[in-house]
Amino acid sequence: MAGQIEMAMKGIVLAGGTGSRLFPLTKITNKHLLPIYDKPMIYYPIQTLVDAGIDDILIVTGGRNAGDFLRLLANGKEFGNIHLDYTYQEGEGGIAEALGLAHHFGAGHRLCVILGDNIIKGSIRTAVEEFRHQPAGAKILLKEVPDAERFGVAEIEGGRILGIEEKPKQPKSNLAVTGIYLYDETVFDKVQKLKRSDRGELEITDVNNAYIAEGTMSFAHLDGWWTDAGTFDSLLRANNLVATTRENAA
Ligand code: DAU
Repeated sequence: MAGQIEMAMKGIVLAGGTGSRLFPLTKITNKHLLPIYDKPMIYYPIQTLVDAGIDDILIVTGGRNAGDFLRLLANGKEFGNIHLDYTYQEGEGGIAEALGLAHHFGAGHRLCVILGDNIIKGSIRTAVEEFRHQPAGAKILLKEVPDAERFGVAEIEGGRILGIEEKPKQPKSNLAVTGIYLYDETVFDKVQKLKRSDRGELEITDVNNAYIAEGTMSFAHLDGWWTDAGTFDSLLRANNLVATTRENAA
């Protein structure tokens, strides 16, 4: 609209929780500070945001040694001319709870939210650009996986997204919902209305299903490999994928 200043998109890295699936690796440090090949895990999602042109970033951390994030990342100058903020989640009340703690930072802005253990080869720049032109709502990135039951799984029909099931025993597709989410400024209202799931968490899948119910959710397919790193197997996989990609590029 003429005369209206477009609010810049902000980034949020969710790195809370206690990393209990990686005990004892996470007994004395935070999961997101563990190494992925030659860098601490948290570097990768931050770089993904920076590569997409997002330079105002909040890190939601938690668990033990949260102060180490500040010691490691400081003001973020290793990533160029960016601005880093930090906040703290007590316990592990869920991804959407961690997002809710970002209200003071994100209110009134469009957001690119990324999970602290999600690592990708490619870029999300195209999806971010598409979302800038989407009038309202949200956008998620999907990836074909062989083990969909470990993730949020999207049901797609006729090019439309019908719903997402969180870790279904019998997945309706092989399309995992990656931990990269684009939201408009209504996301915090949606988080506020959530009820805790059976596992006692505020689920990001419920936030996404609220957008789907509203008819404002779009999706894209992520190019290049994608992995999480929250289990022993996926942590190893992430290390190997980064190492191989680096070798091939050399
Ligand atoms: O990786 C993508 C998947 O991530 C999605 O497909 C699922 O829909 C989504 O629920 C999530 O599943 P996980 O069970 O793998 O999430 P996990 O509990 O491992 O948490 C992933 C990251 O989210 C973690 O590294 C930090 C952040 N997190 C998680 C929890 C539970 C928080 O910041 N706070 C939390 O309380």
